[in-house]
Amino acid sequence: MKKILITGGAGYIGSHTAVELVKAGFEPIIIDDLSNSDIQVLDRLEEITGKKLAFYKGDCSDRSLLDQIYAEHQITGIIHFAAFKAVGESTSLPLKYYQNNLMSLLAILDFMKSKDIKDLVFSSSCTVYGQPAQLPVTEETPRQDAESPYGNTKKICEDILVDLVKSKAGIRVISLRYFNPIGAHPTAKIGELPIGTPANLVPFVTQTAAGIREKLTVFGDDYDTVDGSCVRDFIHVMDLADAHVKALSFLGKQTDDFYDVFNVGTGNGNTVLEVLRTFEKVNDVKVNFEIGQRRQGDVVKIWADTKKINSVLNWYPNYSLEDSLRDSWNWQKTL
Ligand code: NAD
Ligand code: WQD
Repeated sequence: MKKILITGGAGYIGSHTAVELVKAGFEPIIIDDLSNSDIQVLDRLEEITGKKLAFYKGDCSDRSLLDQIYAEHQITGIIHFAAFKAVGESTSLPLKYYQNNLMSLLAILDFMKSKDIKDLVFSSSCTVYGQPAQLPVTEETPRQDAESPYGNTKKICEDILVDLVKSKAGIRVISLRYFNPIGAHPTAKIGELPIGTPANLVPFVTQTAAGIREKLTVFGDDYDTVDGSCVRDFIHVMDLADAHVKALSFLGKQTDDFYDVFNVGTGNGNTVLEVLRTFEKVNDVKVNFEIGQRRQGDVVKIWADTKKINSVLNWYPNYSLEDSLRDSWNWQKTL
């Protein structure tokens, strides 16, 4: 059974990916420093998969820990989720973001070279596109200057990966550019655990519906979109998890020194107000909201062209926006 190291595997996307890896016959090994996740996730993963997953608490830049993991599990591939992801915080604490997001990738790559580990799937983001001139965005759409230090770390990490593959280091890499992951495992045993006030839309919606937040502010309703609010491509986290499994399986069939990048979105854009209305309808709850000022730096509209991931990885989303918002709410209710 192929052993796959999941850095940041106790986090939101990593934990759902662990479930899908087990289902596909891989053995996930998790390393996470729990800086943005909870140890309880491990018990939940066991309840869902029926398997006790190997877990190492620590920083994935810690080479001695990585060597220990390798001695205990001959891993053949890595999915590198571990990173800080709070866009706003990255603007006030840029070094924290450059330090963690860049150094952890460099440490992982050095480790891969030394152990001849071939395959890497990297968590990138649609943030690298900024506000694209043409929609939907394909993988060929030019990247733009990042709006935040966080976004810049994703761009730089992609560049590091391209340069390393060009140097004939003998590795195979896929960068997945995620659009907006939402939802939770259909069992509601795992989901997103925002610490403090959520910056992202859907956790703010669910917390408002639950009465934890008094009111959601819709950041602007005067944009050039169908109802004036911003447009995003919201993808269920289980579909996103499945994309990692498909990417890993695909990498295993490639020759050395392979690099490619894929958008992971549904291919549909929905406005913020559509999300609110759909959430209220599928869950039969009210969300207290007001229309507020535009949020500085917001992309107005973006959604993915998914032809490449559809045809090359044979990946298609299985969950609708309704499914995602129902699962987000079911998860919130367990918290
Ligand atoms: P998350 O914070 O839930 O998960 C990241 C996990 O990594 C956390 O459990 C955290 O404790 C851990 N971690 C952070 N630094 C670490 C380190 N140095 N060593 C070990 N563990 C460390 O975030 P997520 O939403 O699951 O995101 C996963 C990846 O996907 C990140 O790289 C993020 O930038 C990227 N991404 C996320 C989104 C999104 O909207 N959630 C969108 C695009 C890309
Ligand atoms: C979605 C929409 C807001 C909160 C962020 C990161 C990006 C990527 C994905 C990691 C926007 C609106 C939000 C609220 C609102 N992450 N909104 N009221 O902006 O697409 O991107 O997550 O790589 O890098 O920047 O996601 O969830 O913050 O916002 O009206 O209280 O919801 O204006 O239009 P975004 P988001």
